[in-house]
Amino acid sequence: MPRVLVLNGPNLNRLGSREPDIYGTGSLDDLREALAADSRFEIDLRQTNDESELIGWLHEAVDTRTPVILNPAAFTHYSYGLRDAAALVTKAGLLLIEVHISNPHAREEFRHTSVISGVATGVIAGFGFDSYHLALDLIGRRPR
Ligand code: DQA
Repeated sequence: MPRVLVLNGPNLNRLGSREPDIYGTGSLDDLREALAADSRFEIDLRQTNDESELIGWLHEAVDTRTPVILNPAAFTHYSYGLRDAAALVTKAGLLLIEVHISNPHAREEFRHTSVISGVATGVIAGFGFDSYHLALDLIGRRPR
């Protein structure tokens, strides 16, 4: 079964109680359970509030040739270190799909910029947890 890394950035460990009007009431464990139900893939879902740990996981994706679904959370908007690590993934010929639960373009101005999108394979935003399911569908559609 092909493995997929589903990497989540800062504050996403608070899903469920964090701004439920924006992010919904599902927790990160609910998301993990929902994605695990997809029998096509082995899902390795991780979350960190630490930029360096997230960068290390992208390096691991390159070394293990694993496709990535990445919700960079607030790092989306300013982390050039994360961008450079994401570029290593796509330059290695691996899929890296940037996902967002909310639609950042419909929110505050600072969220309209993503420093990640330019090096991602593509972006899915605004569909709640379905953003992740759609990203998995895409990975399933792409020949390895
Ligand atoms: C987010 C959107 C970001 O702007 C925000 O900082 C997050 C979550 C989303 O999934 O909608 O933490 O990436």
